[in-house]
Amino acid sequence: MSAGRRNWKGVILAGGSGTRLYPLTTTINKQLLPIYDKPMVYYPLTTLMLAGIREFVLVSSPQALPQFQTCLGDGSKWGIQIEYAAQPSPDGIAQALLVAEKYIAGHPTALILGDNLFYGTGFSTQIQRAVSRANGATIYAYPVLHPEAFGIVTLDGTGRVLSLEEKPKTPKSNLAVPGLYFYDEDALEIARGLKPSPRGELEITDLNLEYLKRGQLHAEMMGRGSAWLDGGTPQTLFEASQFVIVMEQRTGLKIACPEEVAYRMGFITQGELQKIIGGLRPSEYRDYLVRLDLM
Ligand code: G1P
Repeated sequence: MSAGRRNWKGVILAGGSGTRLYPLTTTINKQLLPIYDKPMVYYPLTTLMLAGIREFVLVSSPQALPQFQTCLGDGSKWGIQIEYAAQPSPDGIAQALLVAEKYIAGHPTALILGDNLFYGTGFSTQIQRAVSRANGATIYAYPVLHPEAFGIVTLDGTGRVLSLEEKPKTPKSNLAVPGLYFYDEDALEIARGLKPSPRGELEITDLNLEYLKRGQLHAEMMGRGSAWLDGGTPQTLFEASQFVIVMEQRTGLKIACPEEVAYRMGFITQGELQKIIGGLRPSEYRDYLVRLDLM
């Protein structure tokens, strides 16, 4: 697959202080909190795995990195590689690229926010298409009720980007840009040139605006039947769990199970899946992997 040929890197930004989730985040990093039956970070990780990406850098605070290392390890059991990079203070989404610099230099890179959950028919195909694109950047557009809280994009009838603004007071559309971005090899150099915004952050919107200026910003609508959720507040965290439990209980299929994704993507063999199962104590999760092995 092209992801392998061009050697994509995946950066998961699991930083932030999680203040909106206080007191849940007193002892635990936000992205390690559960969305129903799995740690939150499993969701963005498996999203990028579904794009065919196998080499990751997880960016988080120095204090939280050891917790993530315990949670995810080096990725080898899932047929992937996970490196860890410390972000001393949370100074913007684009800063994650600078923090991950030594791992991503010279590679196309996907960047995903650690509290974002994506789900929907056709979504894997959509992100695999982003990975197979030779140049430029790919962002997504998703309709929301409160556009003033997001990066907002306007598109013409053919999907060309007309404008992109960070949290506009009077939004030109209701299309938010979710926290999932695919960049060619130039992103790092562009990130190096960014200046902090009035809120003191290196804005991902500014990086995307540079691609727009170069005529290299692709935007795709996420289909109406797809879900983009996040776990940033007590309410959205709970809603994301509700979404996952409803889908999983109805279908008997798990969302964001790294073992399953690794197996279905061909990152691990059936023998390797069996080895994982052999190392697990009885649980509902283990039962699922056993069923998968028999499917
Ligand atoms: C950030 C980005 C914004 C994007 C949003 C997605 O906002 O700046 O463009 O739409 O993530 O969740 P923030 O979470 O920093 O307010």
